[in-house]
Amino acid sequence: MWSGRFREPLDPKFEVWQRSFAFDVRLLADEIAASRAYARVLRTAGVFTATELDSVLGGLDTLAARPAPNPADFPGVEDVHQFVEQELVLLIGDTGYKLHAGRSRNEQISTDLRLYVRRSIDDILAAIAGLASAFVAKAEQYKDDVMPSYTHMQRAEPVLVAHWLLAWVEMWLRDADRLADCRRRVNVLPLGSGAVAGPGMELDRAALAAELGFEAISANSMDATSDRDFELEYLHALSSLALHLSRWAEEMALFSTVEYGLVQLPEPYSTGSSAMPQKKNPDALELIRGKAGRVLGAAATLQTVLKGLPLAYNKDLQEAQEPLFAATDSMAQALPVATGFMAAVGFDTKRMQHAASSGFLNATAAARYLVKKGVPFRIAHSAVGQAVRLALEKGCELDGLMLEELKRFRPEFERDFFDCLKLESVLDSHNVPGGTAPARVREALAAARQRIATISKSAATPGRRSKKMSP
Ligand code: ARG
Repeated sequence: MWSGRFREPLDPKFEVWQRSFAFDVRLLADEIAASRAYARVLRTAGVFTATELDSVLGGLDTLAARPAPNPADFPGVEDVHQFVEQELVLLIGDTGYKLHAGRSRNEQISTDLRLYVRRSIDDILAAIAGLASAFVAKAEQYKDDVMPSYTHMQRAEPVLVAHWLLAWVEMWLRDADRLADCRRRVNVLPLGSGAVAGPGMELDRAALAAELGFEAISANSMDATSDRDFELEYLHALSSLALHLSRWAEEMALFSTVEYGLVQLPEPYSTGSSAMPQKKNPDALELIRGKAGRVLGAAATLQTVLKGLPLAYNKDLQEAQEPLFAATDSMAQALPVATGFMAAVGFDTKRMQHAASSGFLNATAAARYLVKKGVPFRIAHSAVGQAVRLALEKGCELDGLMLEELKRFRPEFERDFFDCLKLESVLDSHNVPGGTAPARVREALAAARQRIATISKSAATPGRRSKKMSP
């Protein structure tokens, strides 16, 4: 491919070591798609005759139709770009070499990677929509149930189970939004940049972009051939997703312990112990939590690879590929598992209800009762705190205290105080957008369904990958 100026062969160990075909083989479909588009503009540029173009496109079609090659069967191949060229020449003869006119592997790899990331974003968006839908379905299944919420890992205030699940949906939706936003900057065509300064001939880059579904054309050839911040941004978006999945997995595992007893682990997503016959372990959750390490590691690897690179292409950039693939695989595989887990999981609503109605989770609502009667919040807080202490001494809840006892702390306590302590009143008191009042949660559920439908639609729209987008 490049050995003309060399007198000595490469050191065999170095030769094997510098190859990327073992992993960039997964860009084969992208490499072929980009080559097809490039062949067409070479025809317009006068490099190919009509017959040559037909022959090149025919050869590329034949290549595309073959089963995926095993890189081990092609020990002499350096990378996916060389593979396509070599196989094309074997199929159609020396005309195949003409395809490299004005083109460089530096821009080819950038182009392939952008196609790969764009496709991965679409797949992951669809998978996030699936996950979020499973949460919404679960929220609907348990729409009348209550549970304790926690701050500092201590029981705080009662919330609807649906409100808790929708909190996670917000995270999935933000992750989807980050990916969709990142997609706009990914979807820029580098091809037509040559090795660094440009292709050295006139090329219809707009036609290239249109054929490959890119929304814009890169504005600088040096940047286009060496930029990987589209990858970095994507890995950061994936990091956020991985973090959220990990937090969720941790919470589910915690809630499934006998100590909490709120979540019943579904058997299809749990494993037993070879040593302890009674065990049901949350392995699916633990692996999802563990995968976050890979994704965060991939982002850190890429940042470290990029941080010392002067312009333009440097072979270090080859090291940016494997972490990208690993992170994508981790998330693409974890999301359906998380979705299946959510569809199958059950909650112990009796325990949830009991945990939500004991342990003074209505104390904040009690303080708000006094505030409504004109007592400053700090003073109300302290009065209810004293009431809690008395109830603890007596071994009862706030509603077990006598009105006279309460009046000792604040004269504003009246008989209607006992109504405000009821679970329903506590929930209803949070009647703001974003609050856990049942009416608000019903609205939030409907809104979430809508928002998820928008992502599924955009991820599945064939137009996103079509040729009709012009730069
Ligand atoms: N395999 C290379 C990579 O992934 C392709 C580009 C090689 N370019 C070069 N001038 N050696 O980065």
